[in-house]
This record gives sequence, structure tokens and C-alpha cells, in this order.
Amino acid sequence: VRFASDNTSGVCPEVLRAIAAEAGRDDAAYGDDRATARLTEALSTVFEREVSVFPVATGTAANSLALAATNPPWGGVLCHRSAHIAVDELAAPTVIGGGLTLMPVDGEHGRLTPDALTAAFARIDHGVHTVPITGLSLTQSTEAGTRYRVEDLRALVDVARAHDLVVHADGARFANAVAATGASPAELTWNSGVHILSLGATKGGAMAAEAVVVLEPDVVDAFERHRKRHGHLLSKQRFVSAQFLGWLADDAWLRHADHANAMADRLGRGLVEAGLELLHPVETNMVFVALDDPTEAAWRDGGASFYTLPLGDGRREARLVTSWSTTTGQVDALVDLAARCGPPA
Ligand SMILES: Cc1ncc(COP(=O)(O)O)c(C=O)c1O
Repeated sequence: VRFASDNTSGVCPEVLRAIAAEAGRDDAAYGDDRATARLTEALSTVFEREVSVFPVATGTAANSLALAATNPPWGGVLCHRSAHIAVDELAAPTVIGGGLTLMPVDGEHGRLTPDALTAAFARIDHGVHTVPITGLSLTQSTEAGTRYRVEDLRALVDVARAHDLVVHADGARFANAVAATGASPAELTWNSGVHILSLGATKGGAMAAEAVVVLEPDVVDAFERHRKRHGHLLSKQRFVSAQFLGWLADDAWLRHADHANAMADRLGRGLVEAGLELLHPVETNMVFVALDDPTEAAWRDGGASFYTLPLGDGRREARLVTSWSTTTGQVDALVDLAARCGPPA
């Protein structure tokens, strides 16, 4: 039973069919193609405003290029301490951003708070010697599987606006947040003050499809130049665009996200019944539980795959991720295994 990541899931039929439909024709290279034009239209409909769209192949590229295009190289970007940009991208935003500084701050359950942002400003002396805070990057849904509601976003953006920050959202799991909150993509982005979004489809059922969606600032030229200079302008970009078209059509993206969220909810409830402690509320498609070494070993011997991180108190945090392809059978198998192994001591 695989719960290591939504990246371990396969490719959903809607995306495969869209790639196959594109495969039989010739079209222009480097994004001047019909699929990319259709994707811009489709995402303008999804976001209820005209957007610019830049398909890329990885989330790291999407985040780094988005931050590079919207912040000066001497700038600083506030983010959560557990943010993917801060801990899982080998400083790519700093390299691609020409020296851009990431400024991690704490927050319970993976969420930033207005107070933590305000406190970060209080610590900064804005002289020429100090990195000025120029941006805010939040993750929606978060690395802890929680999500920001519209009111949470607006409270964060109030602080960002007061300091004239550009607001980026890492939406590797944006679909899960839309499905979980019931808010519209517009409400969760520009309508709440998000300027630029890294929209991920890969975890939600695509093969390799991420896109930077520029909602507000006029950074199109800067973005295009950064993307080419850093080797992320794909000649056959239309196959990334085609994946998105298949994923978005008839709201397949939201159905898949809703399913993944429902599977996590079922898993979380089952594990609590089996006596485990949830470390974060289950709000999207990730479940975090505390395990001790013998219980972790017993789960692995029982065939479960998942990542763990030390909690600092001798226990480990197990991250269990569900996806569009997770079945109730897989969830119930892990719950049964957990019940057989018993709760950690
Ligand atoms: C929050 C978040 N952002 C971005 C990414 C995208 O990363 P990658 O560069 O591996 O596609 C991931 C993938 O794990 C993620 O969890």
C-alpha cells in the first residue's frame, strides 16, 4: 500500500487521452501552438479573468521562475519554514532569482499567520545593508495538508499589501485546496490578493505538467526571459499544455482532487479509531501521524510505503499522501494494518 506521495500515482485517463489526441499532429514549437493558446483560454475561464500561462515541467521550475520574475535579486521572500521552496528545492529560487533570499517563518500546521508576517517586518532594519522583504510565498494547500480559507488569505494579504509585497502561491496541490474549501479558483487567488500562482497538475493526475499562472503583475517579459535562460522553455511545450487541457476538461481536476481528499479523510478517521495521533488536521489529501520505531518497522514489514521525519522527541512523523488513484481498498488495508500493529507506546 503506497502512501509515499501523490507523485507515485500514475497518469489519469483524461490526461492520457489528451496527449494521444495531440500526438498525431504537427504544430508550432516553443509555445506558439494551439494547445497552449487553448490552455490560456481555459485557465482564463477557470480564473474568471484574463491570465498569462507558462507551462513548465516541474514545480521547482514554476516556483523559482515565478519568484525570479516578480522579485529583485536583492529581495527577500517570506515563506513558511516547511515551504517546498525553502526545504525541497536546493536553493533553486535563490539561484534562478539571482541571489533572492528566502525568509522562513514559523506557523502551526504549515500555515503562515498575519502575526508572524508582521513580526518578520519588526525584525528587519530597512537600511541599504539589509535584505528588504519584497515578496510573500504561501503554499495552497500547505505542506502539512492544511489549506488557507479565503478569510485566512485575505488576512495574510492585508499585511503583504501594507508592505507592498508581491504575493506568490505554490499550488502544487491547488486543486486539493479548491476541492476542500469549495471556494472558486478566483477567490483563492487574485480576488484575495495572490498575484502569481504555480499551478500543479502532476500530483493531481498529469504526467509532468505545471504552469505559472500570472494573475496580476505585468511580468510576462521577465518571466519569458528567465524561463529560457534557465532552460525551461520546452520546444514541444504543447504536450504539457495538452496534459492540462485533459486535466481541466469537464472538471476532471476537481473530481480527482475531491476523491484524493475523501480518501485522506477516510484514512485519518480510520487511523484515529486505531488509536493513532493525528499531528495536523486532515483538510486535503495528506495525513500525518506520530509513530515510534517499532510501529514504523511493523507498518513497513506489513507492506506500507511512506516517508517519515524525526519529531525530535524520539518519535517520527509519518506523512501519508492519497491521490486521484488511491482506492478505498488501499486505505482500508493500511487502517487494518495500523489496527493490527496497535498504537505506538
Ligand atoms: C508543495 C510543493 N511544491 C512544489 C512541488 C514540486 O516539486 P517538483 O520540482 O518535484 O515538481 C512539490 C512536490 O513535491 C510540493 O510538494
